[in-house]
Amino acid sequence: MPPADATFPPGFVWGAATAAYQVEGAVGEDGRGPSIWDTFSRTPGKVENGDTGDVACDHYHRYPEDVALMRELGLGAYCFSIAWPRVFPTGSGRPNEAGLDFYKRLVDTLRAAGIEPFVTLYHWDLPQALQDTGGWANRDTVGRFGEFAHTVATALGAEVHHWITHNEPWVVAFLGNLMGVHAPGLEDLRTALQVSHHLLLSHAEAMEALRAEARPGDQVGITLNLAPVEPAGDSQADAEAAERTDGFLNRWFLDPLFRGSYPDDLLRWYGDAAPQVQGGDLARINAPLDFLGVNYYFRSVVRHDPNGGPLQTATVQPEGRPYTAMGWEVYPDGLYHLLTRLHRDYAPPALFVTENGAAFPDRLVDGVVADPDRQAYLHDHLLACYRAIEEGVPLRGYFAWSLMDNFEWAYGYAKRFGLIHVDYATQTRTVKQSGHWYAEVTRENGLRG
Ligand code: FCB
Repeated sequence: MPPADATFPPGFVWGAATAAYQVEGAVGEDGRGPSIWDTFSRTPGKVENGDTGDVACDHYHRYPEDVALMRELGLGAYCFSIAWPRVFPTGSGRPNEAGLDFYKRLVDTLRAAGIEPFVTLYHWDLPQALQDTGGWANRDTVGRFGEFAHTVATALGAEVHHWITHNEPWVVAFLGNLMGVHAPGLEDLRTALQVSHHLLLSHAEAMEALRAEARPGDQVGITLNLAPVEPAGDSQADAEAAERTDGFLNRWFLDPLFRGSYPDDLLRWYGDAAPQVQGGDLARINAPLDFLGVNYYFRSVVRHDPNGGPLQTATVQPEGRPYTAMGWEVYPDGLYHLLTRLHRDYAPPALFVTENGAAFPDRLVDGVVADPDRQAYLHDHLLACYRAIEEGVPLRGYFAWSLMDNFEWAYGYAKRFGLIHVDYATQTRTVKQSGHWYAEVTRENGLRG
């Protein structure tokens, strides 16, 4: 897409995001307990190169420098997550004040820099002790999450006004419990579906806890990874595969949150594997949100495949298209289609793009990281946001993934998504050219062709 002028609405929030396990390091400090990602990353063969989050970007110690860099980028907001095992090292019992203190220091530093904290409660680092009693497949974990939410809200609520209960419950449920490529590494459809229901229920439980502590104007939402789905071919079978995949990825979470029911077509498809749902669960899950967070990276193109796992689908990579280092198609129109569809079908009162960005094989040469592909990716996706806003979508902000290069889950440190380059040997930060460009965007409140 050619560069274009696009001025965003006044007050549009420009941010960047990270997650605790991906950046903090300091996994054994100040009483933090182990999480399922400590266990998983130490399991041979699970993470590329045997990488772990033990040190990561050392954000736990270097957050003052990182907040200073956020200022350089002109960020209005920073989205980060709280490591549950810092607050409850064994998942329950008495909170660990030293763990909470880190987040108090971080929030104070952000506030002093004029940067709004957007706080995610769960970005995948379940205390290992809770996994040992069944993890998210055990309904008791929902109650533990409510206690965690209450504790964090009490500690930080005076300074934090934007809360996200969960980040990408689809990934937690299905990459972690059906495909086995994320912690805890299970491969069972029934477990994955039960986990998905308990995640949604725990969202409800956490919202109730946050609302109980909320100040006027506080906003609570949830973040989903969503994607428009298209059939690979013209056949009826491919059309049905696309509809199923839309159910699997998108409607399975959107329908209970916004309509108070799971989609019928998927319930039928899952049959006996469908989750146990108790009376009253769905009404709680359906409680009004202040905003929906959307993480968008690529669209999904699928065909029918009788051997394609429980969904009987296979993903197709369209030919002749650009791809990132993750092998993800660059498809900015998908973000426009997604935002306008969400507005039309579910009408959340407000939306934020809580993650969007791209990994490319960056190189630091003479102190410079030239990353035109990332800059073009961000530019084109921002234009897609702008088009959606022009059509009336209440999109209130955009967070680039990520503030800095970090531990990319099963890919370890091999994939770099940052606006800021991190040299892991020295922990030196270098703002990439895309970061300098993003600073202009935040300053101008939009794109200048
Ligand atoms: C999302 C995750 C985030 C990061 C990006 C690339 O699914 O929420 O932590 O790994 O993908």
